[in-house]
Amino acid sequence: MTKIYVHPLPVRLWHGVNASGFVLMILTGFQLRFAGTLELLSFQTTVDLHNWIGFVLIANFFVWFLFYLFSDRVRSYHPDLSPRRQFARTFSQMQYYGYGIFKGQPNPHKLSIYDKFNPLQSMLYQIVMLLAVPLVAVTGLLLWDSQLFAPISAFFGGTRVVGTVHVLLFIFFCFFIFMHVYLGSLGHTVTAHYKAMFLTGYEDVHDDSPADKS
Ligand code: HEM
Repeated sequence: MTKIYVHPLPVRLWHGVNASGFVLMILTGFQLRFAGTLELLSFQTTVDLHNWIGFVLIANFFVWFLFYLFSDRVRSYHPDLSPRRQFARTFSQMQYYGYGIFKGQPNPHKLSIYDKFNPLQSMLYQIVMLLAVPLVAVTGLLLWDSQLFAPISAFFGGTRVVGTVHVLLFIFFCFFIFMHVYLGSLGHTVTAHYKAMFLTGYEDVHDDSPADKS
């Protein structure tokens, strides 16, 4: 077993703040949506918390963005330039999650320093980080001061449309976190990926895999 340093400190700090922030945003989001039924916090405290954590998460997004903008580690996010190979790798990864994993077959993706994501992860993480997170942040900002931003909201169809997009993204993130935490437990031990992402930065790789020898 070899250890590979795949999650540098800025990524781990960003992810720790991001994960705890999103969980709190979801909890306060539920409290806002079901105010009256759920009475864990007062409405005003919940609004203030939701807003402040939102601003922290927006600032924190730039930690992730600027780190990858100026680091060669961004190669982990690059798709394969051969569409045929990209498709074949994606298909075999889907086959592994849907079938192979239950048969004890090895993971087709061999992790290395500049290729830490399997094709499904790199695709999903790009959608999440470059589309879903910016969109939930922008719609959140428009709702935060709906009077100030009324002309912009009107351009996108009005506050109701903006609010609906925000809530749809809230539902998406509830499902995403659920799946993401489950997939995070599929390392060589249940806690291996969590330890790497939240603590050490190092992933364990079997020495017999071809990519590990490179
Ligand atoms: C309780 C919440 C969470 C847990 C336990 C968790 C766990 C993990 C783990 C173990 C990894 C490394 C393994 C892997 O690459 O899949 C990871 C990576 C990642 N997670 Fe999470 N996560 C959580 C919340 C989130 C949220 C809310 C987001 C986005 C909104 C997110 C986005 C990402 C991204 C983009 C990566 C790859 C980061 C990189 O290396 O560039 N995670 N997460």
